[in-house]
Amino acid sequence: MKRASVVTYGCQMNVNESAKIKKIFEDLGYEIIEDIHQSDIIFLNTCTVREGAATQIFGKIGELKTIKEKRGTIIGITGCFAQEQGNEIIKKFPIIDIVMGNQNIGCIPEIIKKLNNKRNEHIVCTENENILPDHIDADFGDESGACVAITYGCNNFCTYCIVPYVRGRERSVPMDQILVDVRKYVNKGHKEITLLGQNVNSYGNDFKNGDNFAKLLSEICAIEEDFLIRFISPHPRDFTDEVIDVMRKNEKISRSIHLPLQSGSSKILKLMNRGYTKEDYLFLANKIKEKINGASLTTDIIVGFPQETEEDFMDTLDIVKQVRFENSFMFMYSKRNGTKAAIMDGQIEDSIKKERLQRLIEVQNQCSLENSQKYINKIVRVLVEGESKKNKKMFTGRTSTNKVVLFEGSKEIEGKFVNVRIGSCKTWTLYGEIV
Ligand code: 5AD
Ligand code: SF4
Repeated sequence: MKRASVVTYGCQMNVNESAKIKKIFEDLGYEIIEDIHQSDIIFLNTCTVREGAATQIFGKIGELKTIKEKRGTIIGITGCFAQEQGNEIIKKFPIIDIVMGNQNIGCIPEIIKKLNNKRNEHIVCTENENILPDHIDADFGDESGACVAITYGCNNFCTYCIVPYVRGRERSVPMDQILVDVRKYVNKGHKEITLLGQNVNSYGNDFKNGDNFAKLLSEICAIEEDFLIRFISPHPRDFTDEVIDVMRKNEKISRSIHLPLQSGSSKILKLMNRGYTKEDYLFLANKIKEKINGASLTTDIIVGFPQETEEDFMDTLDIVKQVRFENSFMFMYSKRNGTKAAIMDGQIEDSIKKERLQRLIEVQNQCSLENSQKYINKIVRVLVEGESKKNKKMFTGRTSTNKVVLFEGSKEIEGKFVNVRIGSCKTWTLYGEIV
């Protein structure tokens, strides 16, 4: 039996697309394995959102060279970095046999057939980034969660971001198709469904039938069965009152809302082309917390965007302190060629970016700890994921607000909901007992 492996970098969308690639290989009769040294075909599913991601991939390709020399392994590369590089990557690394765009995954059977007939050919298939990709099932095995892509691409062109250039214009998946997929995963026993898109709440903007994100959420909530709905990521500018209302009425929708802020300075937000001010964001965050019972927010923040002064950065710290995010993904601005920000005046030195990132992390950690402390002595509903990797005696799961909880348990509760009384906490983790 031939063996295939997929190495994934980057976001949940890539994780989802890797699950689809694996399913295609399974259907072609391959065994999916983790160990790339034993594989007949290796696909790298890449990211290029920040410079570090690309550097990591170059390192990996070096490692693949020795594997290929030993076993004659077929090497494929897909994902945003592959899309950005196209043919160039083969010139740099002739060991790569296949370069494939995100939207071309459905062509894998055809590509493999072609390669088997004509082994020494390089295949580049990165066109049509504006089509809706073929519908492909992903198999999430017995994991508690499953992911469903509801939009592909992005029309926002935030000035720092490479994604609209590599993932093409925004396309929404027809609602019927999404509902079929969600039902299928829920019936298979998945207790958590994550809706994925670069900008989930502009879902349906490309339709003329009135379907939108609020309607999609309420249709999914109407599916009987006990499960949790998450979505990543919404854009603050497109977070309508209608969506807030659907969330308020439906406990099935996770109370942890990931709402990317990017910066707390209205001046920087404008330069980023985000379409909201500091005040708009604060107003929305407060409205969400007021209207949706138990809502908590997480966010993405970039420090050191061109022209960010100490005063602008203080605005970011200020909003973090005011909103008290449960968690933040914090990044130093990374220059991406071809984006507007890459050629802006006032690029910030690395040492200043590092220092600001450090200060931001300290403020965020304090907020996260205070948030965790609020759970002590409370009973929370937890979706059990499985044994803790660090401590085999303990089980791990997450609350509806996405907090990690550790507790003693047994195999039968895996993938189920349990109630846990929280006794203690650390910055990121709650500890408790099942009640
Ligand atoms: N530099 C740093 N961070 C970036 N992100 C996107 N592009 C860049 C960049 N050029 C961050 C944003 C986004 C998250 C997925 O990655 O915060 O929300
Ligand atoms: Fe990039 Fe902005 Fe689109 Fe997100 S919304 S993918 S940050 S351009």
